[in-house]
Amino acid sequence: MALLVSSWSNGVQSVPKDYVMPPERRPGDFVSACNEIPVIDLQENPKIDRSDIVQQILKACQEFGLFQVINHGVSEKMMEDMRVLYHEFFNMPVDDKLRGYFEPWSTTGCSLYTSGVNYAKEDVHYWKDTLRHPCHPLEEHTPSWPEKPARYREEVGRYAVEVRKMGFKILDLIGEGLGLNEGYFNGVNQYQTMAINHYPLCPDPGLAMGIDGHTDPNLITFLQQDQYGLQMCKDGKWMGIDPIPNAFVVNIGYQLEIISNGKLKSAEHRVVTSSTTARTSIVTFFGPNAGLPIVVEPAKELVTSTSPKMFKSYQYNNFIADYLAYIRKPFPPSGTPLDPYRV
Ligand code: OGA
Ligand code: NI
Repeated sequence: MALLVSSWSNGVQSVPKDYVMPPERRPGDFVSACNEIPVIDLQENPKIDRSDIVQQILKACQEFGLFQVINHGVSEKMMEDMRVLYHEFFNMPVDDKLRGYFEPWSTTGCSLYTSGVNYAKEDVHYWKDTLRHPCHPLEEHTPSWPEKPARYREEVGRYAVEVRKMGFKILDLIGEGLGLNEGYFNGVNQYQTMAINHYPLCPDPGLAMGIDGHTDPNLITFLQQDQYGLQMCKDGKWMGIDPIPNAFVVNIGYQLEIISNGKLKSAEHRVVTSSTTARTSIVTFFGPNAGLPIVVEPAKELVTSTSPKMFKSYQYNNFIADYLAYIRKPFPPSGTPLDPYRV
């Protein structure tokens, strides 16, 4: 199997040839973290009207497709525990990390893989290792999770439950902004997956990439980060996302763009590497189960004579197959994976 970057990169002086991106895929000029991306405070406050928060979120989803939330209800202690746990995980001997995991990328089981979703088909690799596993229903999935560190299943299980509460709270606010019935997203979007991405120190961040520009294929993503590296593209320009302590970055995925009938937009984002700080992001994805033929389409309430249906109805498992075929191509063609789905 392909070796994890973290197993060989410590102390390397230059980026190996098969990690050197062609010039058009390199990060380009350094982009620093900025403060233009909305930060929304979810603290319940009698002085703040819920409708104000709904409007702030809606505006952020329309203009950026990405925002950060603070006072979101997931405790700081729990977020700190996750940082410590995954630091320990990625520093374990490689045999401990690998034992028992499937490889490569899997939508239904636990996997530990390096670079992108299909290493064998890539011509250049990403400077990244990922641990990935489903999280809901917990009892069904925890047996496939890592056994080391010993507290892994218990701590990550608690975190997954808290992130789930926060996530559905945010989805309710988004649904309210769109004018959908309460609980609209509780139906088929029950699938919850975590991906923990580890980006080791890179000797020459100008040549390598953590992840290329992409939009998440699922409904919505909640990301915990403590180091800079994540960027989003707005109007053709990359903007750095400030790693605010204990905030979550929320980004809209393709399914939410489609369900909202194009009212919300999904955010293109990427990760650059650093020669001074290794970075670990703890990412939770919500969406339909990618293994099932679940029908996704614009919400009927949002299709009217003045707002005609912008996307076709389709099955989510087919969408994921198309998405993977697209991102496995060495040089994505112009357009996006959404193009074939537009009416
Ligand atoms: C992803 C992703 C960003 C990060 O896993 O889809 O965009 O910061 N991750 O790791
Ligand atoms: Ni992403």
